[in-house]
Amino acid sequence: MTDGATALSAPVPQGAAFTKPVPEGEPILQIRDLVKHFPLTQGVVVKKQIGAVKAVDGVSFDLRKGETLGIVGESGCGKSTLAKVLMNLEPATSGSVRYKGEEISRLSGAALKAVRRNIQMVFQDPYTSLNPRMTVGDIIGEPYEIHPEVAPKGERRKAVQDLLDVVGLNPEYINRYPHQFSGGQRQRIGIARGLALKPEVIICDEPVSALDVSVQAQVINLLEKLQNEFELSYIFIAHDLSIVRHISDRVGVMYLGKMVEIGSDLEIYDHATHPYTQALLSAVPVPDPAARQVRDRIVLTGDVPSPADPPSGCRFRTRCWKAQERCAIEEPLLAVPSWLDGLAAHESACHFAAEREIEQSAAEREIEQSAAERGAEGGTEAETERAAGQEDGSADGDDAR
Ligand SMILES: Nc1ncnc2c1ncn2[C@@H]1O[C@H](COP(=O)(O)OP(=O)(O)O)[C@@H](O)[C@H]1O
Ligand code: SF4
Ligand SMILES: [Mg+2]
Repeated sequence: MTDGATALSAPVPQGAAFTKPVPEGEPILQIRDLVKHFPLTQGVVVKKQIGAVKAVDGVSFDLRKGETLGIVGESGCGKSTLAKVLMNLEPATSGSVRYKGEEISRLSGAALKAVRRNIQMVFQDPYTSLNPRMTVGDIIGEPYEIHPEVAPKGERRKAVQDLLDVVGLNPEYINRYPHQFSGGQRQRIGIARGLALKPEVIICDEPVSALDVSVQAQVINLLEKLQNEFELSYIFIAHDLSIVRHISDRVGVMYLGKMVEIGSDLEIYDHATHPYTQALLSAVPVPDPAARQVRDRIVLTGDVPSPADPPSGCRFRTRCWKAQERCAIEEPLLAVPSWLDGLAAHESACHFAAEREIEQSAAEREIEQSAAERGAEGGTEAETERAAGQEDGSADGDDAR
């Protein structure tokens, strides 16, 4: 298991320049109390269940049309399992997934096929998720075998070439094989395949984690461009908080199979109230050297406990510096704490949810002071961040052709 303090890197600059308004409107996906347990068995001939890996253990959230919901958390916290259950690749143990108000588990036949068409996935590793023996054209066009209504046989080649063009690859590459492409280009192929059936929702499971830092921003920019073009809704899974901020409207933080905090990017990044989120945030590298110096970093000690035997009460208590007796007895529910207001008043599963005010205000004072000093020399902190963001955006498409 990776430690939260060490699992993060920041190839994409962050800051207020990336803050987006949260889209309003009807949820396209509604997830309620979703549970996925993997049975642990013993015995060779007669298998006896001796427990269960509680990979996803009661997760609820909505995905609104046109929004990007980022989901972050350390390795092993259940992100990929959540994605697979939403994709129907794994059956849920219990709970509800509604697509446009319809319970997916109750659908069958043509109705289920239509929903499956509308929810697609982009996988983490473009090196292993593309079949090396298939041409790019066959890989991208494969979903049409199951859904010929989207592109009848005579139109498939043109449809695939259009998709290659949309993701910034040369349509003439249609007969090439995956090994002839770079990592970033392969992920573009994976994205083109995800788009083939014209879905409404794309679940991206760590889509840039296997890519070089220099290529990550290009793929993220492509996903943002496609979202605007095709009105897509994204669930964007990552262990890297800085990448998630760049693309997300809202962010959910997972720990050991549970969602522990969820809110708009401003609420999570600037007003986090759950100790686990605060620990993850404290480990995100800061571009400003002055801010870096005053950063009050929380180093999480110990491994994530086993999801087969999670701690009683609050699952984070074995690593939480604020834990008290109550935390071992009573499980904190994900809800808006009644004692908080303003941007701190968002869903957080902690008995003692609170912003880290003392540390933050001390840090902010020093940041403000150094920004004022640099302002006098010309150029504010916000301007520096905006400039960094623009540099990042201009890199889009470099490796594509
Ligand atoms: N098919 C499976 N059988 C048993 N345990 C599994 C299976 N898939 C995942 N797990 C376990 O579920 C937990 C969550 O895994 P995963 O969803 O892959 O986490 P993440 O994507 O956040 O790293 C881990 O402890 C993992 O070992
Ligand atoms: S409920 Fe207790 S152990 Fe859990 S995060 Fe809050 S303070 Fe820490
Ligand atoms: Mg995973």
